[in-house]
Amino acid sequence: MQNRDAGHTPVTVIGLGLMGQALAGAFLRDGHPTTVWNRTAAKAEHLVAQGAKLADSVGEAVAASPLVVVCVSGYDAVHELLDPLDEVLHGRVLVNLTSGTSEVAGETAAWAARRGGSYLDGAIMAIPQAIGTADAVILYSGPQEAFDLHEPVLRSLGAGTTYLGGDHGLSSLYDVAVLSLMWNILNGFLQGAALLGAAGVDAAAFAPIAKAGIGTVADWVSGYAQQVDDGAYPALDATIDTHLASMEHLIHESEFLGVNAELPKFIKALADRAVADGHGGNGYAAMIEQFRKPVEVRI
Ligand SMILES: NC(=O)c1ccc[n+]([C@@H]2O[C@H](COP(=O)([O-])OP(=O)(O)OC[C@H]3O[C@@H](n4cnc5c(N)ncnc54)[C@H](OP(=O)(O)O)[C@@H]3O)[C@@H](O)[C@H]2O)c1
Repeated sequence: MQNRDAGHTPVTVIGLGLMGQALAGAFLRDGHPTTVWNRTAAKAEHLVAQGAKLADSVGEAVAASPLVVVCVSGYDAVHELLDPLDEVLHGRVLVNLTSGTSEVAGETAAWAARRGGSYLDGAIMAIPQAIGTADAVILYSGPQEAFDLHEPVLRSLGAGTTYLGGDHGLSSLYDVAVLSLMWNILNGFLQGAALLGAAGVDAAAFAPIAKAGIGTVADWVSGYAQQVDDGAYPALDATIDTHLASMEHLIHESEFLGVNAELPKFIKALADRAVADGHGGNGYAAMIEQFRKPVEVRI
């Protein structure tokens, strides 16, 4: 059921850090009566100047709106703020855009249910400056009725408003999956920049080639995803054996130029294990088998 009066739905935003301020600002720009609360009240000043109402307490903030968005630094802070409220959540939809993990999302959903509230867990895939624009992707998971009811309001936060399903943990899971992607891409770029830098090449000169390389790899993702889902990894381009030879070049170059070879060696160690498991003749997607099993990590 959609909220016919979505254009005027009051919204509460709890937590006015860099992200919370952006969220409240986007609701205000779309004309939603917006109540805000923050531990440090001074951060609400410019929002109040734009028409937000500053609540005196968290309880008053929650009671002000049928849709309550919380975005603070962690789930501990969420519980510190909301646990003492008892019944105030009853009949409201709580949307938690605080970053976390699927486990704590599930626990928080159970906690909200005990207080009679509907709970959507969310993950923001955007920086504060992108909130309210076409570039902001925000993921939601939890009861579909709650999402459908408030989707038009949540769209104020970004065109990439995406519902993932009823399992509350999904948005956090997608979030950490994307973080894995981000850090691996950035680490790869920085390894390359360190190598080129050791040879006197600026990172700026590498940047356009790096972007093209990332784009090329991005084009492989759908095909690899199909192989991962099928559990069959025919080598369409190169075998893992062929990749291994190039991995040795990366280690050799790193050591030769005196830059850190830890990451290249780790990448090769994974591929060595895949070969030991009989995947040398398969395509790179067969490496999924190495990622699926836990390994004891010594740091
Ligand atoms: N910034 C980004 O680019 C970005 C992107 C995606 C997701 N996120 C997520 O959004 C969430 C907020 O990030 P942010 O950038 O807004 O962080 P931030 O600027 O550091 O703000 C943190 C917020 O949490 C509040 N807070 C922390 N501990 C608290 C406590 N014990 N009790 C009450 N309030 C408490 C702070 O209140 P005070 O103002 O009183 O300190 C502030 O409102 C995080 O989960 C983050 O991972 C951020």
